[in-house]
Amino acid sequence: MSAVVIVGAQWGDEGKGKIVDLYTESADVVVRFAGGPNAGHTLVVGEEKIVVRLVPSGILRPKARCVMAQGMVVDPAVLVGELDTLAARGYTTQGRLFVSDLSHLILPYHRLVDGLREAAASDGQKIGTTKRGIGPCYEDKAARRGIRVGELSDLNDVEEKINRALLAWKPVVRELGGEMPEIGAIMAELRALAPRILPLVADTSALVDAAIRRRERVMFEGAQGTLLDLDHGTYPYVTSSTAVAGGACVGAGVGPTRINRVLGITKGYATRVGEGPFPTELSDAIGERLRVAGGEFGSVTGRPRRTGWIDLPALRYAARVNGLDGLAVTKLDVLSGLDTIEVCTAYDTPDGRTTEFPVRHVGLAKPVYETWPGWKESLTGAKTMQDLPLAARNYVLYLEAAIGVPIFLVSVGPRRDETIVLRDAFG
Ligand code: IMP
Repeated sequence: MSAVVIVGAQWGDEGKGKIVDLYTESADVVVRFAGGPNAGHTLVVGEEKIVVRLVPSGILRPKARCVMAQGMVVDPAVLVGELDTLAARGYTTQGRLFVSDLSHLILPYHRLVDGLREAAASDGQKIGTTKRGIGPCYEDKAARRGIRVGELSDLNDVEEKINRALLAWKPVVRELGGEMPEIGAIMAELRALAPRILPLVADTSALVDAAIRRRERVMFEGAQGTLLDLDHGTYPYVTSSTAVAGGACVGAGVGPTRINRVLGITKGYATRVGEGPFPTELSDAIGERLRVAGGEFGSVTGRPRRTGWIDLPALRYAARVNGLDGLAVTKLDVLSGLDTIEVCTAYDTPDGRTTEFPVRHVGLAKPVYETWPGWKESLTGAKTMQDLPLAARNYVLYLEAAIGVPIFLVSVGPRRDETIVLRDAFG
């Protein structure tokens, strides 16, 4: 196995950071292919906790080279901030981190519009974005007026292009009651940041291709999750990029024939941050208990995450649209102490009962549950499936059978060593 894609199988925050970090012990290259600083991967090493938003999680492995591919949108100030944080913690990025010249820059007017729109939207129309400028930046990309990272080498040309983009955004900002950022301030910031970023700029598609040809181990690290995917998620309550596995090919510039395996990640329950349908959501004491026990607060925005029961139709949908070969189940420990665990196995819709995820009309569907026995024991220290209490083991085996995807790994705590590894990602 040389090229493995890892994606979120739910609404993001499945614990990709930890799993990618764990599997990249044996990876040579780690590639992020979509999204931007809306992602927040929390990595726990020993007593240290590091949150990365743009830089791939593999950066903590000294051997791994890390790639930010052209499907990403890059906020230059956030990137430089991360370079500084990592340097302060002793992690080098020079010669190890490569940023695609074709990835798009998030600029102040993108963040501004994102925030103004969310503030102006009435209830029911808010997306609950991270306000990091992701949507407007991808809009500029599709409108063919975006600025790409490689263009930082010619700031005079960039200034002209930004002036044109500002003209396009001006009526939008005015309509929303905001104040346009000054070109002078934008350019001053870019002049300060560009020298820090330009040494990292590369043709990352060629770099990844060469690594795959050398049979190096390449891990593609997805961001967000399947149900937040622009095409396959619960539209319009989605992010503006591709979160499914196919996005690795488009976003990194690698042909589908080069990908060997696709792994998905799910929590033992479900969470969602931001607005949009979440049929298995719990608004009761159990939901609150999962939120507290699971530390379910957004790593980028700090927002409390919505919590709920695991949704098997949604996971089977994720298995299909991603072509999952394997699944990692995270945060199983958070379920400890519950008397029973509910599992959504099907949906009642206006057209009858279905075991398919009703992605086209989720709002109208009612989940159907099956009840599983819980377990009281803490899972801390479990290293093998045999170490798990019987009810926990049965729950995992049931998920595997019901989703129809082999389980590769079970995570029972935030630390690297709190993991039951059943199969190697590259093996
Ligand atoms: P945006 O990506 O900031 O435009 O936000 C669009 C939707 O995706 C909102 O519901 C966000 O809460 C959600 N979202 C974006 N990134 C993440 C993430 O990394 N984890 C979970 N939700 C996310």
